[in-house]
Amino acid sequence: MLRDIKKMMKYIIKVFLLSIYNRKAGTKIYSTKASLKATYGKGVLIAENSIVTDDVSIGMNSYINKNSSLENCEIGNYCSISSGVYINPFEHDLYKRTTHPFAGGPTEKRNKVKIGHDVLISLNAIVLEGVNIGNGAVIAAGAVVTKDVEPYEIVGGVPSKHIGWRFTEFERNKIMQTNWWFDDIEVLGKNLEYFNCKISDFKTRI
Ligand SMILES: CC(C)(COP(=O)(O)OP(=O)(O)OC[C@H]1O[C@@H](n2cnc3c(N)ncnc32)[C@H](O)[C@@H]1OP(=O)(O)O)[C@@H](O)C(=O)NCCC(=O)NCCS
Repeated sequence: MLRDIKKMMKYIIKVFLLSIYNRKAGTKIYSTKASLKATYGKGVLIAENSIVTDDVSIGMNSYINKNSSLENCEIGNYCSISSGVYINPFEHDLYKRTTHPFAGGPTEKRNKVKIGHDVLISLNAIVLEGVNIGNGAVIAAGAVVTKDVEPYEIVGGVPSKHIGWRFTEFERNKIMQTNWWFDDIEVLGKNLEYFNCKISDFKTRI
C-alpha cells in the first residue's frame, strides 16, 4: 500500500516536472520514463511509455513514438522513430560463466549509436551498439541493424541488409548539400511544396 502511494507520488511529481520542462524547452515529452537529464532539441516529441536514458541526445523536431527504448545514442534533427524501436539495448556478457545478471552486468561500456538527420526507423526495429546511420536512411519494420547504414540507404531484415536507395547518387549528394535539417520548422513550413513532392518530379529544385 505504502509502496503504491510512493509510486503514485513519484508519477505525479514527474508529470509536473515534465510540464514545466516542456513549457521552457518547447518540447512535448509525454513519457514519464524519459530522463530530464537527456538532451532534447526544440520540438522533440516523446510519446507515452518510451524510455530515454540520461546519455541520449535528440535533435530538434525529431519524434519517438510509443513503447520505444533509447539508450546511449545521438539522434539528429527531424528523425521519425516508430513504436517498439530499441536503440542500443543492454547487452549480456556472453563470455562469462553465466549470462544471467545475478553475477553482475557487463563491465565494458557500450559504444554510442549515432543517427543522422531525417532518418526513419520503422516499427519494432532494433539498432545495436556502435552503429552509425547516415542522414535520410530508412530502417524497415522489424530490422535488426548490426552494421553502419549509408545516407539515404534503405535496409531491412535480420540481420539487416541493403534493400535499396531512396534516390540516385546525384540526388543524394545534392540533397545532402542543402543541409535543410538545420532550418526551423516554421521556415520549412513555408516551402512545403518543395518537401511534399517526389524528387523525380522536381529535379530542378533539389
Ligand atoms: C522498407 C519499407 C519502407 C518499404 O521499402 P520499399 O523500398 O518501398 O520496399 P519494397 O516494398 O519495394 O520492397 C523491396 C524489397 O524489400 C523487402 N522488404 C520490404 N519490407 C521489408 C521489411 N520490413 N523487412 C525486410 N525486407 C523488407 C521486400 O520484400 C522486397 O524484397 P525483394 O526485392 O527481394 O522482393 C517497408 O517495407 C517498411 O518496413 N515500412 C515500415 C512501416 C512502418 O513501420 N510504419 C510505421 C511508421 S510510424
